[in-house]
Formats: sequence, structure tokens, C-alpha cells
Amino acid sequence: MIELGRFQIDLEMRTLKRNGETVHLGSRAFDILVAVASANGRLVTKDELMNIVWPDTVVEENNIQVHLSALRKALGPDRDLILTVPGRGYQLLQRRKTVLSDSAGSPTPGARPLPPPSKSGLLGRGTAVAQIRAMLAHTHVLTLVGAGGIGKTSIAVEAAHHSAADFVEPVNFVELAALTTEAAVLRAIVECCGLSVPDPQAGVERVAAALSRQRRLLLLDNAEHVIGIVAHIVEALVAGNDALRVLVTSREPLRIMPETVFRVEPLDVPPPRSTDADILRCSAVNLFLQRANSLQGHMGSDSAEIQLVGEICRRLDGIPLAIELAAARVVALGVEGVHRRLDDRMAILAGGYRTALPRHQTLRATFDWSFAILDHSAQSLFRRLAVFGGAFTFEAMCATVCDEAHTVANAIGSIAELVAKSLVSVEFEGPVAKYRLSESARAYAMMKRQAEGEQQDIAALAN
Ligand SMILES: Nc1ncnc2c1ncn2[C@@H]1O[C@H](COP(=O)(O)OP(=O)(O)OP(=O)(O)O)[C@@H](O)[C@H]1O
Ligand SMILES: [Mg+2]
Repeated sequence: MIELGRFQIDLEMRTLKRNGETVHLGSRAFDILVAVASANGRLVTKDELMNIVWPDTVVEENNIQVHLSALRKALGPDRDLILTVPGRGYQLLQRRKTVLSDSAGSPTPGARPLPPPSKSGLLGRGTAVAQIRAMLAHTHVLTLVGAGGIGKTSIAVEAAHHSAADFVEPVNFVELAALTTEAAVLRAIVECCGLSVPDPQAGVERVAAALSRQRRLLLLDNAEHVIGIVAHIVEALVAGNDALRVLVTSREPLRIMPETVFRVEPLDVPPPRSTDADILRCSAVNLFLQRANSLQGHMGSDSAEIQLVGEICRRLDGIPLAIELAAARVVALGVEGVHRRLDDRMAILAGGYRTALPRHQTLRATFDWSFAILDHSAQSLFRRLAVFGGAFTFEAMCATVCDEAHTVANAIGSIAELVAKSLVSVEFEGPVAKYRLSESARAYAMMKRQAEGEQQDIAALAN
């Protein structure tokens, strides 16, 4: 969290608040604000800003102007907080304050000790953990990819503990969620690896040189919102360093040559009409029962209840975060009540652990985190995909959602982005690609679509 006068910039949730009230701001405008605020008074050049905001694309300079003027509009009477230095760049006119809770216990944001292994044990992940450990013997960069809340961080932490004995140095852990610039990521790596690099700002080559020939495992957690920056850093760190292993968790792959992607699968769920015994063997069901039983009484002996829990887990797509949130609701609604209200999951799946990450407090927040980093065209396609209740082909999609404003060419780029960012899954039936939204992703897309319709109605009334 960065405080700027009466503004609060929440880096994790990617939101801007004025005196606690959310101020609507587009994703690029938010990136510009964070980049300038993070520089804390130093001038940020146009080139620097372009690299931070559009790391993978070359865009016209006037894009900065467009998003900057949206940002100034959002800042209202405080629009002069960001000064344009003609021909040079942009500068913050007020010193920021970094709020302690964002970096509690850690002098450098992001550099954290490796979290302890899960106390109650990870359910259904024994094979994945063993595979990851084996892969780290020969894979330099291993990225655990999957949808929000599917368990990437949990598996990575568990695998890191299992693999620690294979490395000379202790495992180094960097939490990326609150970091937004290359300098901040490098600083966190330098700090957590205990390197003596006099000035990490000097660049990634200096950090790579300091790490050379050290047999160590570096775990970079939650990379999706700084994916371009992390890709560039990781590629440079492993080039010419055979001993280093980097384990990354992200909703999107890094897309660099040395990377191997490990797709994290949902927990297993029972198919329809399973017997009670088969349902009770599924890891998703065990997670639900474990969490619900830790909150109240004893569940899992009544057949009707077991059948409902099996269906809840299946309709929540075997996603551990959604299952934990649903189990917590049993206290108030009972199993039957949770089951009955699954169509309203965006409203009822809230109230996660008080100490959980903000994006894990509600099902909606975990999708917000992914949705916020989509470009405008992918956001628009995603909302429109709410019409599909099952698998669909590219042609079916174009026939339904493409028009003059949403061309087939746009749709190709956007569906690729949605798949890459784990919001849409793809399966191949022979040579044919079939796309699918999970039931929760579809519920979120419907909610966004409704909100957009309401905004349009309001705009039409205002005109
Ligand atoms: N196999 C499992 N057994 C028990 N609990 C699990 C398991 N996998 C995940 N969880 C729980 O589910 C929640 C989400 O898991 P985790 O943070 O690992 O997801 P993630 O994929 O890293 O999410 P994000 O995309 O937001 O980073 C956590 O509270 C975690 O403890
Ligand atoms: Mg994670």
C-alpha cells in the first residue's frame, strides 16, 4: 500500500482510493500512477514508463498522454500531484508514505522467508510435488501455471521444502504480488538471497553475476501482474548459470526459452452419480470436509450430505480457494443452503480467512485480480463469453460475439490472452480446439456483463 496525501494505492488489489472511497481508474493509468509514485520524487522518463506499462509491445508515445490525462481526471483537484517535465518525463510532487502493513516484518517489500509447509498437509498433491522436485533436477526455470486459487503457491512452497535438501543454499522466496517495477523485483531478489550487490539498480547483469555458480533454488511467487519484468529478469539470471533453479508461480507462463510450464490441475471431484465411498475418496471433498469440520461439528457421515458436498465441489471446479470459501459458509447456511445458492456464488463465496491475502478473501476478488490485468479487448470478449455454458469452438465464438467493433482478428488475440491468463481453458479434440469457461469464471463474466449493461443504461439516461 502506498499513501499519497489523501490517496491510498493498493498494490495488491490494484485499486486507488481517495479517503477510503474507490476511484475508478483503468489498468494502464493505474500502472502509470504506481510507476511514478514508486519512484518517490525521482524523474521517470518516457522510455522507462513505456517499458513498465507496455513491457511486451511497442506503442505510440501519445498512449502515455491518453492514460495520463485519464489519471489526472481521476485525481481531480489533486491532478498536479504528477508533474510533466517537458521533453524528459514525469515526477511525483509529493513524498509518498509506504504503509507498514504492506511490508510488515520485512525491510524490503517482497523478500520474505519461505512460508512453513502446510500444517494440515496438502491434499491430493503428493504426485505433483514429487514431479516438481524431479523436474528441478534438470529444468532451469519451472513455472507453475493455473487459474486463481487453484493451489500454485501451496504446491510451490511444499515442493520447495521437499527439494531443499537438493540445494546447497537455503531456498530463497520472493513474494511478487506487491512489486511493480524491475528495480523492486531485483532489490527483493538481492535481499532474499543475501547477495552483496552494492547497487541493485545497476541492473540484472550485476545480480546474475553475484548469483553465478551458486547451487540454489529461487522461488518467485505470484508473477502474473509483472510477467514481462519477471521474464526478462529470470532469463538473464539463468543464462550461463547451470546451478541456479528458478521456480515461478503465475496465472500466465513467462514465455521464455528456458522455461518449462507445469500446469496445475484442479483437485479431483466426483463425477455425477458417484457412490458415497467414491465421493469421499476425492481430494476436493476431503478439503471441504476438513475446512467445514474445523469450523463446526462433524460432517461426512450422512449420505445426503456427502452427495451434496460432492456436487458443490464439482460445481466449484475443484478449485481449493472456492472450496475453502464454500466450506466456511456452511456455518451460516448449512450444506444444503450453500448448494442451493451456488448460482449466486459471487455473492456468497466471501469471508475468507482474516489473515489471507486480500484477493483470497472472496471469489470475486480473485477474479478481479486477473480481470484487471487484461487489455480492453480481452475484457470485452470475456464478458461476452458468458453466453457459453459448455465447450465451444472458435467459429461458434466468432458467430456469436464478433461484429464490426469486435473483429475476428481481435478475437484471435483476445482468446489467446484469456487462455494464457488461465481465465479460459482449451482442450483439443483431434485437430480442433475447444474452449471452456469454468462455472465460476462464467458466473464472474455474467456479473461483469450485467455491470456493463447497467453502466450503459446509466450513460444512455444521462444523455
Ligand atoms: N491441496 C490443497 N490442500 C489444502 N488446501 C489447499 C490446497 N491447495 C490450495 N489450498 C488452499 O487454497 C487457497 C489458495 O491456494 P494458493 O494460494 O496456493 O492458490 P494460488 O493458485 O497460488 O492462487 P493465486 O492465483 O491467487 O496466487 C489457500 O488458502 C490454500 O491454503
Ligand atoms: Mg499464488
